[in-house]
Amino acid sequence: MSNSNKAIIIGNSDGIGLGLTKRLLNSGWAVIGFSRSASPINNENYNHIVVDVTSSDYEAKLSEHSGEEISLCVYCAGIGEQFDFENLKQEEKTFHVNLIGAVKTIEAILPGMKRSKKGHIIVLSSIADVIISPEAPSYNASKAGLSSYVESLALAARPYNVAVTNVRFGFVDTKMAKGDKFPFMMSVEKSVDYIMQCIKKRPIRFTRPRKMAFLALIHRWFTRLRF
Ligand SMILES: NC(=O)c1ccc[n+]([C@@H]2O[C@H](COP(=O)([O-])OP(=O)(O)OC[C@H]3O[C@@H](n4cnc5c(N)ncnc54)[C@H](OP(=O)(O)O)[C@@H]3O)[C@@H](O)[C@H]2O)c1
Repeated sequence: MSNSNKAIIIGNSDGIGLGLTKRLLNSGWAVIGFSRSASPINNENYNHIVVDVTSSDYEAKLSEHSGEEISLCVYCAGIGEQFDFENLKQEEKTFHVNLIGAVKTIEAILPGMKRSKKGHIIVLSSIADVIISPEAPSYNASKAGLSSYVESLALAARPYNVAVTNVRFGFVDTKMAKGDKFPFMMSVEKSVDYIMQCIKKRPIRFTRPRKMAFLALIHRWFTRLRF
């Protein structure tokens, strides 16, 4: 790998993580990616580690690469399935991938960034962090936990010149947003444009599309009327 800026991307064999990895490589970054599947990327500045973020060897594999030279870490791993009474184990798994995996990643990466007084951690949460719905309880709750955790963490890390950004998208055109009834659908390219904007400006919270975020709040308010 070259001596350029180094990034770690978790969950990048597909979707937004894959799009972001390609963009960073094209912009001169060196990237280390982690996911359960092999990567379609073949580039001298790219190293792919096959690992499941819920496995017992995840932290060890991540620690091998989380030295102080990492200036950017983006947590893109995520799953979301329709709620199924016959498969409550899937609910638990969603928390492990979407929330605990991010917490473990930050545990491995943040100390090095704090020591070197530089770095940026970005997590992909979702506008769903405000939604209450019977269709996806664990997805919504894991994203609510993730948003709350990283936004507080951002304030704790700021005095050490380490930025933490919570990215909240609506629907992005990947395999996660299956089907055709998703409003305000954004392309992967557009979502990557927004993440690159976050890398430059280092906000604590970044939400797009704003209209969708507003509708999600109204949805939450109407749902609570049913209580
Ligand atoms: N698409 C949307 O509409 C949307 C909207 C808002 C927020 N988001 C969030 O954005 C993030 C990326 O979503 P996406 O749409 O790009 O999804 P995607 O296309 O399904 O990609 C998810 C990535 O996460 C990896 N992954 C899943 N489980 C993993 C595990 N246990 N260990 C390691 N890697 C794992 C997958 O790779 P492997 O299968 O190879 O492991 C894949 O590379 C997610 O957190 C999602 O919640 C998505």
